[in-house]
Amino acid sequence: MQLKGNDMETLLGLDLGTTGVKAVLTTREGQIVATATHAYPLAHPAPGWAEQNPEDWWTATIAAIRACLSSAGPTDLRGLAISGQMHGAVLLDGEGQPVRPCIIWADTRSQAECDQMMATVGAEHLIERVGNPALPGFTAPKILWVRNHEPDTWAHVRRILLPKDYLRWRLTGVAASEISDAAGTCLLDIAQGVWATDVMATLDLDPSLFPPIVGSAAIAGHITSAVAASTGLPIDLPVAGGGADNACAAVGAGIVTPGQALVSIGTSGVVLAYSASPAIDRGGPIPRAHTFNHAVPDAWYLMGVTQGAGLSLRWARDQFGAAEMHDAHASGRNEYDLITAAAATVSPGSEGLIFLPYLQGERTPILDAQARGGWIGLTARHTRAHLYRAVMEGVAFSLRDSLEVLRSAGVDIRELRATGGGVRSALWRQMLADVLQMPLTPLAIEEGPALGAALLAGVAAGVYPTIPAACAQVVRTSPTIMPDALAVTTYARYYAIYTSLYPALRPAMHALSAE
Ligand code: XUL
Repeated sequence: MQLKGNDMETLLGLDLGTTGVKAVLTTREGQIVATATHAYPLAHPAPGWAEQNPEDWWTATIAAIRACLSSAGPTDLRGLAISGQMHGAVLLDGEGQPVRPCIIWADTRSQAECDQMMATVGAEHLIERVGNPALPGFTAPKILWVRNHEPDTWAHVRRILLPKDYLRWRLTGVAASEISDAAGTCLLDIAQGVWATDVMATLDLDPSLFPPIVGSAAIAGHITSAVAASTGLPIDLPVAGGGADNACAAVGAGIVTPGQALVSIGTSGVVLAYSASPAIDRGGPIPRAHTFNHAVPDAWYLMGVTQGAGLSLRWARDQFGAAEMHDAHASGRNEYDLITAAAATVSPGSEGLIFLPYLQGERTPILDAQARGGWIGLTARHTRAHLYRAVMEGVAFSLRDSLEVLRSAGVDIRELRATGGGVRSALWRQMLADVLQMPLTPLAIEEGPALGAALLAGVAAGVYPTIPAACAQVVRTSPTIMPDALAVTTYARYYAIYTSLYPALRPAMHALSAE
């Protein structure tokens, strides 16, 4: 029997993304009742800079909550949690006002501060204490950048929050730092799940700037009467800690027990694996994958990132896809269906053509912002279809790099699930299974991090006993795709060539990037 109205128990998950906030209202069984999305701007005040105004997040969040609740009608809402873009530094004054726009995860201005952190704390000691090297994407170097470059602004800072922790504070009036997001600051002792106050002391950062750590599926506060009045949320609704978007994506995909991993192709590509210990990649001079605390208590995940995954195919479409875009328009089909149909006419390996997807530099495994992309092996017999197929294969090879790094860090990977816009393509899905040499199980629901957040809210509110129990009840998958033996052999040969290309071409890439 389908319950309706006030008899229907629901959970609200919010995802504070880079381009907008998404609200998802779900039943405890995982039926999506309503969704709403509100966008906000992203500013690039200088090359490599990326900033957002926390007030814009707040306004969009209130609008998304209202829209979602009004389209759902009355339900028995039991809890709320937020998933958020990681690493941003929201710097607040004594009145709780942001002292400047938030420098977000995509901002790369703080390389000098990373060098400063590695030198002051000691690279090896820092990695030992916080599980990761200082990278410009992370929070601590952004904080040091403001202190170094804007001392007058810095003088007013009394509290530092991550983006979604800022929203939760405004919803509840309680300041807290949620553990999976705190892991991305480079200031958390990820093994113990407590602030690394010794690292803060070495960097001369006052620990009282950072609110106490709270669990992802613990109640962190309750909706205030003022917020209830402006949104329609119930007064005193429990609000859970929530989680970093990658941790919440893992929960939404059911990656919550040992042996499970997720591969996703969005704009960027990610391979994320559950880890029962805070394992760190030791295969390079500094860890090539990130290790962060999971939303699941006493668990971690390792994550490798391909900077240009779906982005590479979108770029190829924009540059070479006029014919497919025209045909798609004329026939009412999606141009990506036509592009992948063309790619499917070419055999695995694209007849001796390999694409390096480093259109935005690369994170895992080479951690090189100056890496550059391209096709290698072009001959006059290659067609546009070969170029498309090679782009898709190059992204798959790059994701294989991440998988290999996670494995070499000792993470047990037995089941691989798949999500993101790219895996809607049957060709790309099969390619991933063949290149990664693993069966691949696509997710049947695509609400991702917002759904993961809703499940965390459900655990906090007592709707589910544990996060794995919530996932067992809600997460649904599509039929598993098996690797094709012949393609596996072909791709193994090509992957060996792919991995030889970056070391061989690195000097040329760097020279070109300096032009
Ligand atoms: C993770 C990272 C991104 C952001 C995007 O290290 O930088 O995935 O969390 O929202």
